Amino acid sequence: MHHFNYVKGELYCEEVPVREVAEAVGTPFYLYSRRTLTHHFRVFDGAFASVPHLTCFAVKANSNIAILALFAAEGGGADIVSGGELFRALKAGVDPAKIVYSGVGKKVEEIDYALSEGILMFNIESFQELEVVNERAARLGKKAGIALRVNPDVDPETHPYISTGLKENKFGVDIDAAIEAYSRAARLKNLDIRGVSCHIGSQLTKLSPFLDALDRLKILLGRLEMEGIDIRYLDLGGGLGITYRDEEPPHPSRYAEAIVDAAQELPVTFVFEPGRVIVGNAGILVTKVLYTKQNEGKNFLIVDAGMNDLVRPSLYKAYHAIQPLTRRRRRTIVADVVGPICESGDYLAKEREVPDFQPGEMLAVMSAGAYGFTMASNYNSRPRVAEVMADGKEWFVIRRRETMNDLVRGEVVPRSLKKKKE
Ligand SMILES: Cc1ncc(COP(=O)(O)O)c(C=O)c1O
Repeated sequence: MHHFNYVKGELYCEEVPVREVAEAVGTPFYLYSRRTLTHHFRVFDGAFASVPHLTCFAVKANSNIAILALFAAEGGGADIVSGGELFRALKAGVDPAKIVYSGVGKKVEEIDYALSEGILMFNIESFQELEVVNERAARLGKKAGIALRVNPDVDPETHPYISTGLKENKFGVDIDAAIEAYSRAARLKNLDIRGVSCHIGSQLTKLSPFLDALDRLKILLGRLEMEGIDIRYLDLGGGLGITYRDEEPPHPSRYAEAIVDAAQELPVTFVFEPGRVIVGNAGILVTKVLYTKQNEGKNFLIVDAGMNDLVRPSLYKAYHAIQPLTRRRRRTIVADVVGPICESGDYLAKEREVPDFQPGEMLAVMSAGAYGFTMASNYNSRPRVAEVMADGKEWFVIRRRETMNDLVRGEVVPRSLKKKKE
């Protein structure tokens, strides 16, 4: 369920006409619905009410601190993959004891930062990382909570770029090597083994890969118990898909039922790292048509948002629905909706049947709340767009549009390159 609906032909986000925001902040911009965000978080978290658990929102999906603060207020934790994400989570008020740190390439400074803040656990992805985290913890006189991210070698049946749980992927430690890694960890004095973690991919639309992974993890947990290694947290990662077009992913309550059914006897606190399922359908990208044209009989709508603002179509051939801000009867055309970036891959929709939009009209790129703004760049020296949150009848800018000065912030022209005055 989301809160983007037409009222008398006008697209609203909650009780706010999207056009009103567009007229005030200009285009393009991201617009999120607070009610949708809260609802999605509660549905997911609530689905696991019968077992001890922590819902650690995957910050990479949407890292705006207003959104993180909203989930923190709901009792959520955070799944981070960098020092920057840790900084954001802390700034938003996330309890460090509810933060898990994933990622294959944690740097020493980032490890130190996380240790000094006292996060719940590092999801360790290699033997070398075990040694480094132990060594840094020793230096700081701390014990690092750890889980080993194991790679269960199951096919999540999603786009190869967002599949992470197959043997050939770079993520995690091979499940067959996990016992050896845990034995190694048990001998390192500054590590406190807390959990087992796993994340097999994103935008999963079936339950079976999750359950296959869980079966393998249960076997591992049994073996660890025999080795006398105590596991208190089972982190099952994120990955639950959403409907962008006609996908029918399991509802979080079905996902939860299946997991709880398969694992409720385990004496662990479950950790989940949902991203997309919480924020994906809670946000849109609003853009304006600049020009329309035909090349070789093909229609193009040139809009003011590009792949630097929303890269998912270019990167994954992802589908995002395109909807008008004002709906009225008119003919439709088949067109490519493209941005202003100097790349042929810069598009938001390809060969799509859309209303016959005219220059100056605004449209909404739907389901853009996850991996939208967080993957935005300044390519072509385009300032990153504003982010806005609607809340009932009100709306707030939660990130102002970047300025030209933001574009060059931190850049320095060496004196020797400065043009001398004649
Ligand atoms: C380790 C980890 N956890 C959680 C997530 C969130 O995944 P999703 O947004 O599909 O729920 C990701 C995303 O790829 C991830 O890499």
